[in-house]
Amino acid sequence: MKKKTAALILAAGKGKRMRSGLPKVLHTVAELPMVAHVVKLAIARRCAPIVTVVEPGGTRVREVLTALFPDAPLRFAVQHKRLGTADATRVALEAIPDFDGRTLVLYGDVPLLKPATVGRLSKALHGVSLSLVTAIVNDPTGYGRVLREGRWVKAVVEQKDATFAQRGIQEINAGVYLCDHALLRRAVGAVGRDNKQGEAYLTDVVAIAAGEQGAVAVKATRPEEVRGVNTRAELAEAEAMMQKRLQAYHQGRGVTIRDPAGTFLSTEAQIQKDVILGVGVQLSGKIKIGSGARIDGPVFIRNTTIGQGAQVHAFSHIEGAEIGKGVSVGPFARLRPGARLEPGSRVGNFVEMKKTRLGRGAKANHLTYLGDADVGAGSNVGAGTITCNYDGGPIKHPTTIGPGAFIGSNTTLVAPVRVGAKAYVGAGSTVNMDVPADALALGRARQTNKRGYAKRLRRRSQKKGQ
Ligand code: UD1
Ligand code: CA
Repeated sequence: MKKKTAALILAAGKGKRMRSGLPKVLHTVAELPMVAHVVKLAIARRCAPIVTVVEPGGTRVREVLTALFPDAPLRFAVQHKRLGTADATRVALEAIPDFDGRTLVLYGDVPLLKPATVGRLSKALHGVSLSLVTAIVNDPTGYGRVLREGRWVKAVVEQKDATFAQRGIQEINAGVYLCDHALLRRAVGAVGRDNKQGEAYLTDVVAIAAGEQGAVAVKATRPEEVRGVNTRAELAEAEAMMQKRLQAYHQGRGVTIRDPAGTFLSTEAQIQKDVILGVGVQLSGKIKIGSGARIDGPVFIRNTTIGQGAQVHAFSHIEGAEIGKGVSVGPFARLRPGARLEPGSRVGNFVEMKKTRLGRGAKANHLTYLGDADVGAGSNVGAGTITCNYDGGPIKHPTTIGPGAFIGSNTTLVAPVRVGAKAYVGAGSTVNMDVPADALALGRARQTNKRGYAKRLRRRSQKKGQ
């Protein structure tokens, strides 16, 4: 039977180099905290339990992970003193005293690692004590260097402790190790703190394992996978790499990305083929875009579904909306949570919608606020129409507009109110009574014309000016 694998995620470091009030591992890459990427990887590798080491008072990391992965076999251990990565590992091991199997150690600040690479560690572990992930990089500065004798890894030496010659080594330690649990427990106990940083280095375990049945390395195919994030600049690089990876995935499935550098994709975006993403498109959270849709930028879109062939024009801000097939939105539209645009409907510039259904083929083309409203199919909402859904109290009231209705420009609909099917509302009306189907509602002061009055006014002001 295959042995169980526990994952230990080290995430108790202070992350001083980030200069942040937020724990380093909670800084996000593609909207997900770095440590959550690592937990995802441990889940993908079917590790159980998954123990994350946090700093004292590290409740935020714990809360974030528990909320993101409610069904995962998560455990937490607190490292009271930050004595180094070997000490953090010891703390994690104490949290699972009865575990028997293999242990995968991961660092919480390495968010781009792929499950397949970690999978290769397990194949490499046959007949040896430890396998670790390494990479050949152009600039190894800051990383531990891998000392080898042929195929055997003999040790990892930290940058600060390395000799001049060792610093020239370009094979670096990614900080991902797989080994037998009992060996790790023993080795972590044997590690001292006699080095430049006075820390217990987990990397010293590599030399111990090398002295037993040997240690071997699995080289990451792409060096960016092993990027550790210690500074804001490295965080930005990791984000760019993640975006590149997400974009390559979508490009491979037939999505056009006109401006890769100016496009931001979330990990939860599902995009069908022949979608065109314009310049400056930001997709956040859960996004679904149907085939042939065109999203012009710049736009911000969060937790939204966009149907086939729909068009989102520039400068729109969209959150929690459902946009049907062939719908046109914007430019300059604001769709808030609960905006539901049925197929073929149109929302034009400076229109705000919240908790509102716009029926099939209905239009609200200019300068309008529709909140808590239901607009029937084929209706036309004129420019400057406002639903007054809020009476200052705690309750918001609904506005219902039947199918085929015509709401004249600059209409104020004082909710709760209903406009019946195919009814007309005259421009400039304040509607505070229900309008029956097929009726014409006029809710404005009657116009009076005073003949010649303008001329008289002009004459009077001319006299004054003399
Ligand atoms: C570490 C490795 C280095 C490797 C690099 C890869 C050691 C000694 N060095 O260096 O060989 O090339 O990662 O990115 O392991 N942590 C704790 N408790 C501690 C110290 C650290 O939980 O007492 C956690 C940190 O939160 C972090 C991880 O361990 O997630 C790595 O620590 P960090 O200080 O970033 O190590 P590096 O100097 O990057
Ligand atoms: Ca690091």
